[in-house]
Amino acid sequence: MEKVRAQAPGKIMLFGEHAVIYGRPCIVTAIDKGVQVFLKPRKDENVSLTADALGFDNFSINLAKPVKSYPKTAQFIVSTLQNFKEEFGIRAGFDIITKSAIKESGFGTSAAVTVALTKALLRTSGKKLSKNELFRFCYRAMLEVQDVGSGFDIAAATFGGTLYFVTAGRAITPLDAPYLQIVVGHTGIKADSPSIVKDVGKVVRKRGAWAKEIFDQIEEVVREARVAIENNNLKQIGELMNRNQKLLEELGVSSAELNRLIGAARDAGAYGAKLSGAGRGDFMIALVDEGRRERVEDAIESVGGRIINVEVNKKL
Ligand code: PMV
Repeated sequence: MEKVRAQAPGKIMLFGEHAVIYGRPCIVTAIDKGVQVFLKPRKDENVSLTADALGFDNFSINLAKPVKSYPKTAQFIVSTLQNFKEEFGIRAGFDIITKSAIKESGFGTSAAVTVALTKALLRTSGKKLSKNELFRFCYRAMLEVQDVGSGFDIAAATFGGTLYFVTAGRAITPLDAPYLQIVVGHTGIKADSPSIVKDVGKVVRKRGAWAKEIFDQIEEVVREARVAIENNNLKQIGELMNRNQKLLEELGVSSAELNRLIGAARDAGAYGAKLSGAGRGDFMIALVDEGRRERVEDAIESVGGRIINVEVNKKL
């Protein structure tokens, strides 16, 4: 059998993080950087993993061992292989090589690896899944590893483009997004998303009515943002980003570092800025136009952020 290659893009959350865990919609966009997976069938039934970004070099995977007995970074791969074996029956072993175009945290590389690996496994075994089935298959692996998660990053990796997405893929609607210039400022701090999601869960249990009110307002922002995106209304998209950020701050998931980068971007003339993802680290995003891009980037850097160059709305 031949070596096969498959790829999937990373993501940026534009609107609606956290609320999406509670059945609300969000807007996610695929980026031009992602993950490639190469599969080389072996003569024996062993599986080995080489992943530059994760520090695995010929790491041996025994599919009989439980997912959680593996290092966190290998768990998505182990779970995907086990599920594939269970659903489609694969006997041959593989050398798996993954290459990531993004080193920084928060861009959905685990989701992209899961989707790219599944696509490679389908290719090499001659099996087929529709995009919806591919989403479901990969979302299962994500829940097995993390216990929590809406699956928005799996959807971006599976479908590409910009999506209006509801928890667990209850809606996955492609949006006709304009060319958006997004500046990404990384804090240099890695956010532990599942534990932040669980922290918000505690707040929801303690202050249910209050949290529901915030999620209702985030939902309203997402609905307005969908219209603003489809109408290419940059000024309004920016204002909605600021409104979304304020609600995330109230929810307690922003941080001093994120707020500093966001403030600098706004002062330098961005249409709007907000954190993106679980918060308390990773990165913020700012919407700009060409004329202000450099000024906004410089301002973010001057307060300690690192600019990561990505293009959004990457179609597959
Ligand atoms: O930090 P990230 O990129 O994994 O994004 C988390 C977004 C949440 O809404 C907080 C969780 C989720 O799975 O939707």
